[in-house]
Amino acid sequence: MPTFNHEEASHYDERITRLVPGYALLHQATAAQLVSTLDNDACILVIGAGTGKEIIELAKLNAGWRFIAQDISQDMLDIAEQHFSQHNISDRVTVHYGDINDIDASADAALCLLVMHFVEDNGDKKALLKAIKSKLKKQGNLFIADLMRPETQFERESQLQLCTQLGLTDAGKERTRHNLEHEFYPLDRIRFSELMNESGFSTPKQYFKVLGFTGYVVGS
Ligand SMILES: C[S@@+](CC[C@H](N)C(=O)[O-])C[C@H]1O[C@@H](n2cnc3c(N)ncnc32)[C@H](O)[C@@H]1O
Repeated sequence: MPTFNHEEASHYDERITRLVPGYALLHQATAAQLVSTLDNDACILVIGAGTGKEIIELAKLNAGWRFIAQDISQDMLDIAEQHFSQHNISDRVTVHYGDINDIDASADAALCLLVMHFVEDNGDKKALLKAIKSKLKKQGNLFIADLMRPETQFERESQLQLCTQLGLTDAGKERTRHNLEHEFYPLDRIRFSELMNESGFSTPKQYFKVLGFTGYVVGS
């Protein structure tokens, strides 16, 4: 898994839009569903909050929402905190570095965007999902987006081609080809659904897909 430290953190914001086709749309489609489902005083738990992208966009949509930004990279959270300060939303965000189990929360919704594909399916994915569920209210939804196993023989190559169209260099394309193969733990949709059910969530409903990157909403 990438470390998301040092220059992987400082270059994250400019790189991610070339590596995840539809990155902005994924966040917008997630946000639209939160607007449709949450009250003005909602608490939103963001697992793997990274540099704070989703929180900054969500904070603009409802001035009453509060957030918990969790991550295991201090460097990513340091950048997130700078962004929260620049956008004058620091007082609405509790930043949590480290284990999700240490958070005291009963959130109305949770986000886990582009995170769980870095976690191995050896019990670790299930442990993360169960921890998220334990921090959600009974009717709370989890919005989760992951790189999935390719569904056609040409999907990964097409994904790399799309990244090139978005500005990825030839060297970047080869690095990404290697990373997609060796640094992710993608699931197919059957295992994904099974894992959700084993973790106590409902059957996943897909709401986003651009080649391998797929977004689902699951009820707790
Ligand atoms: C690709 S970034 C996604 C950041 C943000 N969600 C976004 O959409 O831009 C993945 C983030 O997940 C974090 N991460 C990786 N494994 C994690 C885990 N087990 N628990 C929490 N965060 C994790 C990384 O440190 C990194 O900040």
